[in-house]
Amino acid sequence: MPEVLHNIHCDGFEAISLTAKSSKNLSLFKSEDSNRQAEQLRIFRKLEKKLLLFNTSSFENQVHFQFAYQTPVQRWFPYREGYSVELVNSFIKSLKISGNIFDPFSGSGTTLLAARNNNINSLGVDVNPISVLVARVENEKYSTFNINNIRSQIETIKALERPKQEYQTTFNLANKVFNADILQSLLHFKNYIKSIEDKKIRDLVFVAWLSIIEEVSNIKKEGNGIKYKNRKRTPSGYINIDKEVWENQNFPEDKFVFVKFKLYNQLEAIFYDVVNSYGNCEKRPKIYQGSCLEFNRLFSDEIELTFFSPPYCNCFDYFEIHKVELWLGDFIKDKEDFRKLRNTGFRSNTNSLNYKPIVYKNKNLESLISLIDTERLWSKKIPSVIRGYFDDTNTLLNKLYDQTVHGGHVGIVVGNSAYSGVIIPTDTLIVEIAQQIGFKVKNIFVTRHLTTSSQQKKKLSSLKNYLRESVIIIEK
Ligand SMILES: C[S@@+](CC[C@H](N)C(=O)[O-])C[C@H]1O[C@@H](n2cnc3c(N)ncnc32)[C@H](O)[C@@H]1O
Repeated sequence: MPEVLHNIHCDGFEAISLTAKSSKNLSLFKSEDSNRQAEQLRIFRKLEKKLLLFNTSSFENQVHFQFAYQTPVQRWFPYREGYSVELVNSFIKSLKISGNIFDPFSGSGTTLLAARNNNINSLGVDVNPISVLVARVENEKYSTFNINNIRSQIETIKALERPKQEYQTTFNLANKVFNADILQSLLHFKNYIKSIEDKKIRDLVFVAWLSIIEEVSNIKKEGNGIKYKNRKRTPSGYINIDKEVWENQNFPEDKFVFVKFKLYNQLEAIFYDVVNSYGNCEKRPKIYQGSCLEFNRLFSDEIELTFFSPPYCNCFDYFEIHKVELWLGDFIKDKEDFRKLRNTGFRSNTNSLNYKPIVYKNKNLESLISLIDTERLWSKKIPSVIRGYFDDTNTLLNKLYDQTVHGGHVGIVVGNSAYSGVIIPTDTLIVEIAQQIGFKVKNIFVTRHLTTSSQQKKKLSSLKNYLRESVIIIEK
C-alpha cells in the first residue's frame, strides 16, 4: 500500500505528513526471509510512536552544499559537508531568535554566518583546525585598511617569481598526491604567505591557498575518503593511468603559472566578497577549537538556539577527507599528531574510537545492533562506533540542556545510516535521547531520502524510506 500523504502547514513550513508508513503486513516479510527487516520495522515504529514526521521537500537543497561554490563567503573554502545559510535563517526567523546561537560542530561556520547576517551573537566549536581557521576567516570583519592590505597582497602574489630553492615537506604521500613542480609551487607560495606580517591578512590568504590544494592535486574528495584522479572506472573495472601521463594530459606545461593563476583567482573571489558583502553587522562570532563534548569548559554563556549538523553515524572521517590540507598546511607534522587529532573527534568512524567507556545504554539501539551480521561488516569496530556515537550524542545533549535558556531550541540536521542491511535511525534515536533528558519534540522534518550502495539497496528494499535526512527541532 502506498504512503498516505496529507498536506499540513507546520510552523510556517509547507509540509506533508508521512503517516501509515509502509503499512505492509509484517507477515509479508517472512516469505522474503526477512525477519530482520520485520524486526527493524517493529523497532522503527516503536521509536516513531507519538511522533509526527513531516516530508518537507522545500529543505531538500538546503541540507547540503550544492550551491556553496557560488555563495559569497561560503565559496572561500570548498567545505562539502555543510548546509545552506538560508536553512539556518529560516529557523532563526520562525523561532524568533534574538539571543545567543551556538554550533557545536561549526565546520566552515554556516550557522555562525547566518547568526551574523541576523545581527545575533554566536559561538562555534570544531575539532578540526582547518574548519576553525576557515570559520574564523569567513566570519572576520575587514576594515578599509584591511581591504587595502588584501589588495596589495594579491598584487604581490601576482608578481611573485618562481622558486629558486627546493622545498621539503613532512607529508610522506606528497610525491604521489602532487606533480613535482606543482608541489614546489604550492610550497613556494606557502613560504611567502607565512611571511605576511598582519595575521588577519595572512590567515585569509592562507585559506585561499588551502582552498586550491585539491584542484591542483592528483586527488579528489569522494564518498568516504580521497581518491586518485588518475584511477578511472571502466566497464571492466578500475584502471590506473600512469601518473606522468595523466599529469601531462590534465595540467598545463607551466605548473608555476597554473598554481599562481588558481591562487590569484581564488583571492580575487574572496576580495570581491569582502568588498561587496561585508561590514553591515557588528556582531562577531566566537569560534573555539576543541571537542563539543567539552564546550561548557570553553564558554558559559546561555544559549537560545543551537543549530548544527553532527558527523553522521556512517563512518565518514572528517580528518581523513582533509588529510592532504592538514599535512601540507602544517596543521600536523607526524602520524602521531594525526592519530591524536582523530581521537578527539565525535565517535562516528573507526578512527575516532578512544578508550572512553560507553555510559549511555539504549534498548532499541541494542536490539538493532544485535540484528547486524557482524561477519559481513568491513570492520569489527562498527558496533563500538554506533554505541560510541549515541553515547557522545547523549553527553552533548545533556550539556546543551544545561546551558539552553528555558524555551530555547536545538535544531539538528542529521542523516540515518545502514550497516549490513540494518538501518540505524539516527533521527528518531536522537529524539528518544532528547526526550529522556527533558527536551520536548517540536518538529521532525524529513528533507530527503538517501541513496546507498546497490548491495545495501537490495537488502533494504522494504525499509528504504527510513534511509533519510531530517531536521529535528527540540525545545527546552
Ligand atoms: C557536518 S560537519 C558540520 C558542517 C557545518 N554545519 C557547515 O555548514 O560547515 C561536522 C563537523 O563536526 C566536526 N567534529 C567532529 N567531531 C567533533 C567534536 N568532537 N567536536 C566538535 N566538532 C567535531 C568536524 O570537524 C566537522 O567540521
